[in-house]
Amino acid sequence: MTEKNKSQKPKHIGFIMDGNGRWAKRRGMPRKFGHSEGAKALKEIVNYCKKIEIPYVTLYVFSTENWKRPDDEVEAIMDLLRKYLNDAYSRIGSGVRFVFLGDKGRFAPDIQQIMYKLEEESKVEYSLTLLLAINYGGRDDLLFSFKNIARKISFGELKAENITESIISENLYTAGIPDVDFIIRTSGEQRLSNFLIWQGAYAELYFTDTYWPDFSPKELDKALLDFSNRKRKYGGIS
Ligand code: FPP
Repeated sequence: MTEKNKSQKPKHIGFIMDGNGRWAKRRGMPRKFGHSEGAKALKEIVNYCKKIEIPYVTLYVFSTENWKRPDDEVEAIMDLLRKYLNDAYSRIGSGVRFVFLGDKGRFAPDIQQIMYKLEEESKVEYSLTLLLAINYGGRDDLLFSFKNIARKISFGELKAENITESIISENLYTAGIPDVDFIIRTSGEQRLSNFLIWQGAYAELYFTDTYWPDFSPKELDKALLDFSNRKRKYGGIS
């Protein structure tokens, strides 16, 4: 690897954390055990991203479609979320800023409250912006942007003919955040599943058979090495 390639590091990594259920099933354990082990892997990966100075990380925690899962599984994920967010709140000041992507309105009031508080109060001295995609869908994100834009047009703040790609970007849940440039999906599935479909238009994709609870910093290093060898062309020629 050349020196030039070595320095090619993503600025924004998106993780599709898949395979918790299968990981647990293989061990004869309930799916929720897979999610709680997945939450441990998540913490380790976030700490590692901070250590290696990745400025933006998005985690696909819960999609707009995940509500269709059995009630007890949804409840188990909500309990993990509650625990994780409260723990994060007690660590404000440790260099992580939180941003939530998705409609917060569907969550229990205490979860919504901690999300708003985290977003507001974690904006201090941070090196990592952690975006949690929760009740998130890429199409819903676009709908959110289009509705914001339509509102601005109806208030006379914007003219339809002046809509640009950056105006669409600025009205998404990710407003102000650079586009994701590397998307990693675990568990052998090779699709985006409605994750950052606008923002990931030029992202490099990486798929691994490893189930999310086993995804370690070592695995991330392997993915980053792969990224450093990609030729990014953005539609041009190399
Ligand atoms: C996909 O695995 C994972 C999810 C839908 C949930 C992601 C949740 C976590 C990583 C842990 C929760 C952590 C917090 C902080 C709330 P799957 O269940 O679809 O796996 P499968 O495809 O093997 O069934």
